[in-house]
Amino acid sequence: DWSMENFIEIEIAKIKEEVGDKKVLCALSGGVDSSVVAALIHAAIGDQLTCMFVDHGLLRKGEAESVMKTFADHFHMNVIKIDAQDRFLNKLKGVSDPEEKRKIIGNEFVYVFDEEASKLTDMDFLAQGTLYTDIIESGTDTAQTIKSHHNVGGLPEDMQFKLIEPINTLFKDEVRELGKELGLSDEIVWRQPFPGPGLGIRVLGEITDEKLEIVRESDFILRDEIKKAGLEREIWQYFTVLPPLRSVGVMGDERTYDYAVGIRAVTSIDGMTSDWARIPWDVLEKISVRIVNEVQNVNRVLYDVTSKPPSTIEWE
Ligand code: XMP
Repeated sequence: DWSMENFIEIEIAKIKEEVGDKKVLCALSGGVDSSVVAALIHAAIGDQLTCMFVDHGLLRKGEAESVMKTFADHFHMNVIKIDAQDRFLNKLKGVSDPEEKRKIIGNEFVYVFDEEASKLTDMDFLAQGTLYTDIIESGTDTAQTIKSHHNVGGLPEDMQFKLIEPINTLFKDEVRELGKELGLSDEIVWRQPFPGPGLGIRVLGEITDEKLEIVRESDFILRDEIKKAGLEREIWQYFTVLPPLRSVGVMGDERTYDYAVGIRAVTSIDGMTSDWARIPWDVLEKISVRIVNEVQNVNRVLYDVTSKPPSTIEWE
């Protein structure tokens, strides 16, 4: 009968059988799904797996380091880290429309991945973290088409890979259980959803280094305080956004004219609808005080109290 240990044993045997002595490439995003896929395939074929991690410069504070620490240092996987920050930021210069930004980030991801993958001449398989729900939603035969990966943008359809999708019979909660069983940390297994375009859609309007820094630092403080308050599992998603807005404040005897940071925190089952999280006032106060004290060029903090619908979870 079905148990997670049985599932792992059977899947490992299947992967070994299918891959033989060939090599597998896996796009690692740091999210739960791709992390679990990498860990599972690594358990089956070890060094025959190579992971590729693209840093597009729109990641959260500490994220790239933590991915490398987990997969390269702890699991001893072959991980190739692509530092593509400049490429992405250059392409995004002067662009302020949200959908345009998404398109640029998604396309650029494909170009970078394609380019780097083609340097690895002997890869036969591409591993993807497709879930059962992704198959139901797309309604296509994923064995034949490379479905656009909901976390890292679509991959080109003409890539010469055979696909491996070892978690495509599982639901999200089962993927978390599998991750735990494979030895992934709680931090990864319980990671909140993070959009493929990353902080690129949390700096509203045009993206600049200064604005990215504000979102990155304020988001780090928010996550830190939510963790300290023990609210991580209760709140489905929580992050900061930076609207294109400045307002007047006072610091010491000085008038300031600086940015306002927005806090978005929601409860949800599947992201389709959501309610705003009732974070206790005293926790919000700590977050607010820390953000204005520790983040440069911020003199105001806002809390988003709208549900979805009519709002969306992200602000772009
Ligand atoms: P919205 O803002 O539409 O978000 O209420 C619902 C969920 O989807 C995530 N999201 C995205 N994920 N690429 C992604 O991979 C995207 O372009 C994107 N836009 C929104 C969002 O974080 C939330 O979990």
